[in-house]
Amino acid sequence: MSFARFFFVFALLFATVLCPVFTSPIPVPEDLADAQDLGRRTTHNGQATYFYPGDGACGGYNGSGDRIVAISQQIWAGGHNCYLYVHITNTKTGKSVYSQVVDECPECSSGSLDMSPRTFKDLDSNLDDGVFPIQWTFMPKGWRP
Ligand SMILES: *[C@@H]1O[C@H](CO)[C@@H](O)[C@H](O)[C@H]1NC(C)=O
Repeated sequence: MSFARFFFVFALLFATVLCPVFTSPIPVPEDLADAQDLGRRTTHNGQATYFYPGDGACGGYNGSGDRIVAISQQIWAGGHNCYLYVHITNTKTGKSVYSQVVDECPECSSGSLDMSPRTFKDLDSNLDDGVFPIQWTFMPKGWRP
């Protein structure tokens, strides 16, 4: 076989068989956010504070009576964790509650949550306490209370 012919056959083989193999996409996980974790498999520790909600960074509106929280910028992760539910425990009293992530809290340290009065009061009946220690985890995507 002449070189030219060999090259032609190789080129044909490359174009029809090998090239599609090389360029087929590397399998990408269904949910890139899950693959990157974004704090979803971690138990977080921090402080609870409260604020009066309104228009949230996730794009919706919630009131003080909604069980919602704002999470740190780090875990908010550009909105990847928006609308997931979290299970929060007041580590002082043992009380726990489910609440929905609807906002970002730029001034919160990584594991801290800024809560609606409703979420805060479910965990500590006295708003005047202002702050208490918490431990929390994300619920799986799609989970609803
Ligand atoms: C927060 O508001 C959004 C709409 O803006 C709504 O879909 C969601 O159910 C509310 N969350 C809670 C816990 O009430």
